[in-house]
Amino acid sequence: MEDLKTFLLQKVLLYESDTLTAETEKVLQQIRREKTSIPVIYVSSGTSSIIAGSEKTFAALKTYAAENQPDTLIVKVGCTGPANFEPLVSIQMPGKNKLFFRNISEEKVEPLLNGVFHNDINDDDLVGQSGSHGFELWPGISFITDHPFFARQKRIILSNCGCYDPESIEEYIARGGYRSYVKAIRNYTFEEVCDIIEKSGLRGRSGGGYQTGVKWKQALSTSSNARYLICNAKESDPGAFADRTILESDPHRLIEGIAIASYAIGASSAIIYLRSGSDHARMRLQKAIQMAHEYGLFGHNILSSGYNLDIIIKKEPGAFVCGEETALINSLEGKRGMPQLKPPYPTTSGLSGKPTVINNVETLMNVPLIMQNGPEWFRSIGTQTSPGTKVFAVAGRGRLSGVIEVEMGTNLKTIIDDIIDGIKDGKEFKAVQLGGASGTFITSADLDTLVDFDLMREKGIGMGAGGFIIIDENTCMVDLVRYYMEFIRNESCGKCIPCREGTGRMLEILESVIRKPANEDSGTTLERFKGVMQLETISTVMKDASLCGLGQTAPNPFISALKNFRDEFEEHIFDRKCRSNVCRGLRTFSIDVEKCTGCTACAAKCPVNAIYGTRLQPFFIVEEKCTGCGVCYDICKFSAISVK
Ligand SMILES: Cc1cc2nc3c(=O)[nH]c(=O)nc-3n(C[C@H](O)[C@H](O)[C@H](O)COP(=O)(O)O)c2cc1C
Repeated sequence: MEDLKTFLLQKVLLYESDTLTAETEKVLQQIRREKTSIPVIYVSSGTSSIIAGSEKTFAALKTYAAENQPDTLIVKVGCTGPANFEPLVSIQMPGKNKLFFRNISEEKVEPLLNGVFHNDINDDDLVGQSGSHGFELWPGISFITDHPFFARQKRIILSNCGCYDPESIEEYIARGGYRSYVKAIRNYTFEEVCDIIEKSGLRGRSGGGYQTGVKWKQALSTSSNARYLICNAKESDPGAFADRTILESDPHRLIEGIAIASYAIGASSAIIYLRSGSDHARMRLQKAIQMAHEYGLFGHNILSSGYNLDIIIKKEPGAFVCGEETALINSLEGKRGMPQLKPPYPTTSGLSGKPTVINNVETLMNVPLIMQNGPEWFRSIGTQTSPGTKVFAVAGRGRLSGVIEVEMGTNLKTIIDDIIDGIKDGKEFKAVQLGGASGTFITSADLDTLVDFDLMREKGIGMGAGGFIIIDENTCMVDLVRYYMEFIRNESCGKCIPCREGTGRMLEILESVIRKPANEDSGTTLERFKGVMQLETISTVMKDASLCGLGQTAPNPFISALKNFRDEFEEHIFDRKCRSNVCRGLRTFSIDVEKCTGCTACAAKCPVNAIYGTRLQPFFIVEEKCTGCGVCYDICKFSAISVK
């Protein structure tokens, strides 16, 4: 191992020429296992894979190999992207293309390997094959790159995800890793690195789209005896999981991006601000940092370049607002995670009052690629004003979900129809929501919108940090907006009045719309209507007067839902009706006496004892007692309960 480390340092990382020798390439090829004389099996090992049972699959593969094919190598890799395919297993037989299989639970291991080892492929769980340069094709099996999930993606940030062992620095180096960093600290000035990133046109992927190179230069040009680089891995949006997948699948590239960014701004301390609960990601990052230290890539006078750098991980305290940069800095300084007025911006006065650059995980993942391939290469991808790609964490009601990466300029319809393969269970598409709890809804009328910071902004759509939630006809938009408002109200730090009081009042009004009033005759319809009218005014005040982005963007889901789904709001207010039958407070359940057998199941399960009757006779529901929970509806085997 020590020999390999010396070899990789001397012949790869410190090698002066960009073109490595043929001898070196051969060794790197072996590390990448491009040519293998033994079977190699890869098992995905991110959090979503582990939840789907990949650890058991791994153990079953080990047992099978020990008993049947002891020379088999089994490697844990990161996540490839499609969450529905987990646990994803790929098998490389000597001289042949790699085969990918989906949903390989421990019970499926034996039949799968019996088949592959005896050239008899059962294509029930087959996803496809991949390979190049002279490997034998598996006849009749399509290429994974032609699979609709992958075919319309452009995977540059995710190019390593699912391909290598994230706990091996050697594999990362063999895939070209850390060379850009070593080159930067040995051959470039701070300004030159900032120039390259500025020329590339890279824009911050947390949603704002701020020019990364410009931000770095602001910090670099502020005179100070210390500067800091913070990687914002908070990933605060509810349901978002793209950053976590990247951290678990390709930690070394993120660390390389952080190291290059730190050098560019002249920082010798970098912090990864990690979401609490991301224990798997934390373990992988910690290992990666330790390995890089062992290779001399961090520490004092790194590889005799005269540059010093240390990277540490800090766990955030668990509040949504701590993703906001000034609140983040406060929490790192041991204060309450509350935002501050800007300016001054962190680039001039950040952590401990020193110039600080805060960048998103995805932003930093682009940096080694730009340094390696040049700014022109990056500009050749995407659109003129938004170069590069965008990673999305797709969740909700699509047929496929997971982490995807598309070229900027891709239209949203392509993502939904082709990559995600439409809507689950034959339901109708209703909207897609970008940007999590403060995001906007996009209906089918706007699905031709291209993924691009400026084009989206022109249409009033925020790109967000990468949350991409598919909503189908079964979702009630009023209830969904209420849910987000409840989340934001709970997460509001309370420092500024517009956000603290505004979120509370907005939630109160939305709750009144989804509840049946005790007495319909008391003019409450008018009150509810007035409430909704007030929501628009409160939204404007919050947008204009809140201290930070949390309050300023909190009304977005409401404004966007009211614009696109006004009829649903009106139905809730005037007709007391929820067309999706989601709002419990508006549901009326009744029992069809013709169908009810008097089995008593509904009465036994009703949590508020609102169902009465005599065994083997039709039962009835007391409407005044019913809370609309729907337990009776779900439990009835005779379809005797209907909901209005
Ligand atoms: C309430 C709130 C939460 C945020 N959460 C995150 C987050 O989880 N991750 C992130 O990168 N940026 C988040 N941001 C944006 C950060 O303040 C900051 O702008 C960003 O990290 C800059 O990165 P970029 O320039 O690379 O896009 C949040 C902003 C607000 C207002």
